[in-house]
Amino acid sequence: MSKINTLIEKLPKAELHLHIEGSLEPELMFKLAKRNQLKLPYANIEEIKQAYNFTKLQDFLDIYYAGMSVLIEEQDFYDLTMAYLEKCQQQNVRHVEIFFDPQGHTERGVSFSTALSGINRALKDGLSQWGISYKTIMCFLRHLSEEDAFDTLNQAKAHLDLIDGVGLDSSEVGNPPAKFKNVFAEAKKMGLKLVAHAGEEGPPAYVEEALSILNIDRLDHGNRAMESAKLIERLRKEQIALTVCPLSNLKLCVVDDLTKHPIPSMLKQGLLVTVNSDDPSYFGGYLNDNYFAIQQALNLTSKDIITLIKNSFVGSFLSDDEKQKHLQSIDTFLNEQE
Ligand code: HPA
Ligand code: ZN
Repeated sequence: MSKINTLIEKLPKAELHLHIEGSLEPELMFKLAKRNQLKLPYANIEEIKQAYNFTKLQDFLDIYYAGMSVLIEEQDFYDLTMAYLEKCQQQNVRHVEIFFDPQGHTERGVSFSTALSGINRALKDGLSQWGISYKTIMCFLRHLSEEDAFDTLNQAKAHLDLIDGVGLDSSEVGNPPAKFKNVFAEAKKMGLKLVAHAGEEGPPAYVEEALSILNIDRLDHGNRAMESAKLIERLRKEQIALTVCPLSNLKLCVVDDLTKHPIPSMLKQGLLVTVNSDDPSYFGGYLNDNYFAIQQALNLTSKDIITLIKNSFVGSFLSDDEKQKHLQSIDTFLNEQE
């Protein structure tokens, strides 16, 4: 293990862009299919892995929605979330802000509260067993209507103690942020944090809409914002955090080579960029694997890595006091190394 990879492993980190349904490993998919007496369109784990070959976001989404169909009971959501938190514990991820897709479940007849309750029970256990803190963000599926999103927001009203924010995911092109203007305004009134996927495949204008029309607190992906000097300046000035996902970008052909990833340019231009795994089971790696891959491809320095890792706490929805505590523990660790 190189010195810089050891640093990546040892530093406490936060993950801010993680779809819990995208952490469903093929082994657990099979186990849950069996437990729920469902038949998967794959004969074995090898076949599942072979299907994970994508040329664009929609290729992945089709397989991702099919995969989550094994999640039926509260215990299934608990097992899914606990498996992710075990990875976090192994990789020294100390704080997570996870997404879930309620509509991916309610449209199959699995209730909002079944999904949320299983996820939340695991998050609470992860906090008590390992001290991993958390926030929960429910995403609206942007290929569905704003009315559907309002339905989902209404279902969340009985569970606001367990939900910290709303997000926007699924098929980006053709579903601009402005489509969800009213539901985001309503979520803000309810005191929820706002995030949205934008500029993953969609044009810079979608990032502009997410900022100016949805009033997001944080930008998910944001790669294509780099095509606009005006957007870069705004993101820098307002220090809006970007939750960038390198291995996801590679697998979905948002970049054709990690050596061409925009992270160095984002860092150089003073953006609050963070590294995340997005859907680790589908994209070939958890959080540390994302750091290892970009460090190697882009020859990032330890200073870059420390900045990215500190940004993961700065860009989180923790309180200022909690952020300071984590940043302090990073500095203490680094001082002990000298
Ligand atoms: N982009 C859009 N929607 C998603 C993603 C993503 O990377 N992962 C899960 N839903
Ligand atoms: Zn995502």
